[in-house]
Amino acid sequence: MKELKVFTTVKEMQAYAAAQHAAGKTIGLCPTMGALHEGHMTLMRAARKACDVVIASVFVNPVQFGPNEDYDKYPRQFPADCEKLQAEGVDAVFHPEPQEMYPEGYGTYITVENGITDVLCGARRPGHFRGVATVVTKLMNITRADKAFFGQKDAQQVAVVRRFVADLNLPVEVNMVPICREESGLARSSRNAYMSAEEKKAALVLSRSLRAARAAYEQGECRAEVLKKVTADELAKEPLAKIDYVDLYTYPALQATDNVTEPCLLAIAVYIGKTRLIDNIILG
Ligand code: PAJ
Repeated sequence: MKELKVFTTVKEMQAYAAAQHAAGKTIGLCPTMGALHEGHMTLMRAARKACDVVIASVFVNPVQFGPNEDYDKYPRQFPADCEKLQAEGVDAVFHPEPQEMYPEGYGTYITVENGITDVLCGARRPGHFRGVATVVTKLMNITRADKAFFGQKDAQQVAVVRRFVADLNLPVEVNMVPICREESGLARSSRNAYMSAEEKKAALVLSRSLRAARAAYEQGECRAEVLKKVTADELAKEPLAKIDYVDLYTYPALQATDNVTEPCLLAIAVYIGKTRLIDNIILG
């Protein structure tokens, strides 16, 4: 089996990517923060199918975490991540130190200012998408990606990435991969590791609430208010769940709407104990 190549400097990563392009190969990028699970692996597989060379990045990006968020305690398990990437046939992994990405004097940030970062997680996590847009732009430049792969799990993130890639004329095709769930319905997430067994059980209410909303939609209910209420009512049945938001917007424009008459994102963020989980479905 071929060796997974590990790069920690921008210079080495760019040189490898340039050599791949010189050999006529296309590059697929899967950006991650590590603590890899099956959800991440679905991105790797999509990239493997679509590109000659697959590059994963494992970087817990300090710039996208708020001051009271979990940057310090975010799970870091790079050796285990490498084993998974190697088993999946990923060609290379970029794993820089924060200093390498944001050296002394660093001063350039990407902000999407058309309103799509003012709702959902953007409203609750000020600066989060500025950090995401900045690091993803850098990762695309460093890996010279032709295609990049993101999960629907973070649907707003995909909308933001599509926006700045178009606005800045970046030569990268952005692909969205469906949400990968455990058999129980729980969306896979690195943050699931924070939960106790009891909390994990309680967390099933997220996907259950979205299934209830989908069922209502499939029975003809199109009113945003009602679909949100069906979701919130289901969430309210779980005592360990505390709603951060239940919202519905057109997708990917993320505009408010009263009725589902075009593709819409029904997105939720819920605290189970101290763990903040997100999930979503696209209707229409
Ligand atoms: P992270 O949370 O590690 O997720 C990396 C990628 O995996 C994202 O595109 C995310 O949507 C996808 N992903 C996570 N769980 C998934 C699941 N259950 N099903 C499908 N895809 C899933 O998102 C980030 O990191 C960061 O913001 C990043 C883009 C790397 C920038 O720092």
